[in-house]
Amino acid sequence: AKVGVLISGRGSNMAALLYAAKADDCPYEIVLVAANDPQAPGLTLAAAEGVATFGLSHKGMKRAAFDAIIDGELRRAGVQFVALAGYMRLLSPEFVTAWEGRMLNIHPSLLPKYKGLDTHQRAIDAGDSHGGCSVHIVTAELDDGPVLGQTPVAILPGDTPDTLAARTLIAEHQLYSRVLADYVMRERSPEWLLGRVRAIAM
Ligand code: GRF
Repeated sequence: AKVGVLISGRGSNMAALLYAAKADDCPYEIVLVAANDPQAPGLTLAAAEGVATFGLSHKGMKRAAFDAIIDGELRRAGVQFVALAGYMRLLSPEFVTAWEGRMLNIHPSLLPKYKGLDTHQRAIDAGDSHGGCSVHIVTAELDDGPVLGQTPVAILPGDTPDTLAARTLIAEHQLYSRVLADYVMRERSPEWLLGRVRAIAM
């Protein structure tokens, strides 16, 4: 399955998806990495790894107009599934509808807890025993939509938002590629699955 990844910055989750896709039995490939900031460091990495990239600043553009450009790039690349990975921008309802059921997001909390920003600070302040991360299907509401997988991450005495975020990121990198792989497999036709089984058996 062809996957397009949307990022805004560092792109470590994008990198995790990309490297997981190098395994022979991975059912997806990353065909495009797009960012709403042409300077996003993740774009440099993706390009160095031979993946097509697209960077465009959203500044001064209407949300729907910007998203329509991104949508066009995804379609031109033959993208079938979209993975949001640290994409720090709300999506227009048109874009969400167009990719409904074919767009996933990773969020650094155990949803439905702590939607939005400052998730680690909020988990620590609440005295939670665990933070964590969730991969979910993107719907019109922010960080809402059916959760496909979660990994709890223990909060240690003395944890700061930064130390907890760093540890949670390790869990994110594992979780996202696994859930994305499972998800695209489920969406696959029986014919395609049979082809994969034959290829692996050979
Ligand atoms: C991750 O923690 C992700 O869960 C959150 O933003 C961060 C992005 O990091 N939405 P990266 O760009 O994937 O390194």
